[in-house]
Amino acid sequence: MKSIEKLVRKNILNLKPYTSARDKFQDGIFLDANENAFGSVVKSSVKNLNRYPDPHQKNLRKALSKHINIPTEKIFFGVGSDEIIDLSIRIFCEPGKSNVIIPSPTYGMYKVACEINDVKVKSVPLDNHFDINIEQVIQAVDENTKMIFLCSPNNPTGNLLSANRIKKLAKSFEGIIFLDEAYIDFAQSGSFVNQIEIFDNVIISRTFSKAWGLAGVRCGYCIADEFIINLLFKVKAPYTLNKLTSNIVLKAISQSKKRDEIVQRILRKKENLVYQLSQLKFVEKIYPSDANFILVKMKNAESVFDYLNKNKIRVRMRSDDERIKDCLRITVGTEKENNLLIKLLKEFE
Ligand SMILES: Cc1ncc(COP(=O)(O)O)c(C=O)c1O
Repeated sequence: MKSIEKLVRKNILNLKPYTSARDKFQDGIFLDANENAFGSVVKSSVKNLNRYPDPHQKNLRKALSKHINIPTEKIFFGVGSDEIIDLSIRIFCEPGKSNVIIPSPTYGMYKVACEINDVKVKSVPLDNHFDINIEQVIQAVDENTKMIFLCSPNNPTGNLLSANRIKKLAKSFEGIIFLDEAYIDFAQSGSFVNQIEIFDNVIISRTFSKAWGLAGVRCGYCIADEFIINLLFKVKAPYTLNKLTSNIVLKAISQSKKRDEIVQRILRKKENLVYQLSQLKFVEKIYPSDANFILVKMKNAESVFDYLNKNKIRVRMRSDDERIKDCLRITVGTEKENNLLIKLLKEFE
């Protein structure tokens, strides 16, 4: 038995998945799915919207496989990476019994997804550099710990986690490491993807919502061992990725140079924003960022937050972790947006 197999919930291992009308045949006259053979109400440049999309995500997986040089068998697409987070918890964690380790502070959805699934969360603080606290994480593991969530670059702190520490954890932990690389395109290096062949217990998730500029189409993907990918296909609803989304994402993949250009532009704007913020008297610290946002510690973060809100500038403030309660997380905007933000902050001084 594969060691990962032991981690999977029994009901999922034994599950006979739903077989959809398009599983076996993709050609012929389709009188098998109760679709509307007369066409759809709206005209669209995307063809056959009256027909269900491909449940196996074949075209998308093939295109992405070429783009990232990872075999199709190791790729799964979700309705945003949020769907992949939820599906992974449902595959491995027994409601009311399993627990999951989540470093703090990090992306809030891991905890929410666990709570929705009645899975206990063990919160382990990141170290003083917001990197993984290996000893504390290992100490927190017990016989019911099924997953560890890691986010690199980490939201909201912006830093990459150390690849060596991720490797150490992946080696020593006999459960699933869920490594969220939503912001990896903004980092110069540091992806764990080249290690994926070595570790069959690591799921790396990525998204089209950030560097690709497609948050509105809801598309994320993950890279993992084929065994895990097959489980994800087993538990997902049959037609999660719609044709409009697939169409846009296929186009995006074929224009990845544009993404690189936009990323470079964002990084230049980030540099400028960091400089401008550093000139403000009430800014105490700007944390190094490998992402498209900056975590800024301020003397009076709460009043700055309220002031910006009054001026219709929305930034994020998280008060659930002591170490970042005086911080604002600011997404890099366009030049105009950044200039307005800085102008307002100078007036606040
Ligand atoms: C770390 C991290 N992972 C995942 C997501 C969600 O990504 P998606 O839009 O693909 O669901 C976010 C969104 O802000 C995020 O910050």
